[in-house]
Amino acid sequence: MKRILIIGSTGQIGSELTMKLRGIYDGENVVAGYIPGAEPKGVLLESGPSAIVDITNAQQIADVVEKYNIDAVYNLAALLSAVAESKPQLAWKIGLGGLFNVLEVAREKHCAVFTPSSIGSFGPNTPRDKTPQDTIQRPRTMYGVTKVSGELLSDYYYVRFGVDTRSVRFPGLISYVTPPGGGTTDYAVDIYYSAAKKEKFICPIAAGTFMDMMYMPDALRAAIEIMEADPAKFVHRNSFNIASMSFDPEIIYNSIKKYIPEFEMEYQVDPLRQSIADSWPNSLDDSCAREEWGWKPEYDLDTMTKDMLAKLEERFGK
Ligand code: SER
Repeated sequence: MKRILIIGSTGQIGSELTMKLRGIYDGENVVAGYIPGAEPKGVLLESGPSAIVDITNAQQIADVVEKYNIDAVYNLAALLSAVAESKPQLAWKIGLGGLFNVLEVAREKHCAVFTPSSIGSFGPNTPRDKTPQDTIQRPRTMYGVTKVSGELLSDYYYVRFGVDTRSVRFPGLISYVTPPGGGTTDYAVDIYYSAAKKEKFICPIAAGTFMDMMYMPDALRAAIEIMEADPAKFVHRNSFNIASMSFDPEIIYNSIKKYIPEFEMEYQVDPLRQSIADSWPNSLDDSCAREEWGWKPEYDLDTMTKDMLAKLEERFGK
């Protein structure tokens, strides 16, 4: 993997992954793909090439792959779970239609492809605790339907055409550079912003609702390490469970209160997000990722809280 295209480079994951990959492979070898209206700015714009890549436009993907001689694509375009429920047709067009375009270009031009799946690929009849790698995946959200279909399509392209597709099932990702938009796990990002701004947090998810979460530095490492891994040990490809922590709103609130004792939280449960959260697992079993490519998280809730608050207080003032 030497010349990389990131589709969705200005989103929550893309804005950080692009910079991290540019640190490893040099700026000019990592192309920041974006859609009009979400242009890269500042260091993301200045540290390497960028190009308009609308994932729903197969020709545009092919042209950029050709122009920059790309050999690996990180496909990060998606509508997150809650917003996908308000635009299910568009979510399918981007999530599955877009993935199909990427896989076809990858088949013709011999690229490897990373596409994140999610805890959202599971559904209400999946075992909830320590959810196994191989288990029932019958999601009830359009986001989940696109993710589980994407896993199948990616495996199909590997088996049928030899396209080097790889993927992890991301938990809710917590980060301070670019906010997520329209996800069910976003509350676990928003809570840190409220705490750092010294505001009361209104929590849309009920106490007792556990979901798997991960700090962005671990997620970035996972995305890079799986693409760098020797596939000889792979039994799975699309997609690996990965995990680092699982908590409910009370637990994250109390973790923040250790550092900001006056922090306050009130519940105003959002029925849509709550029903999505209730259909997802409490925690995943990531032993296959550990065995097959050496996955290991570095952050736990406390080390994440300390770092998130330090970074956000630097921005908003203590
Ligand atoms: N963070 C995503 C969401 O909430 C889950 O993968 O939609």
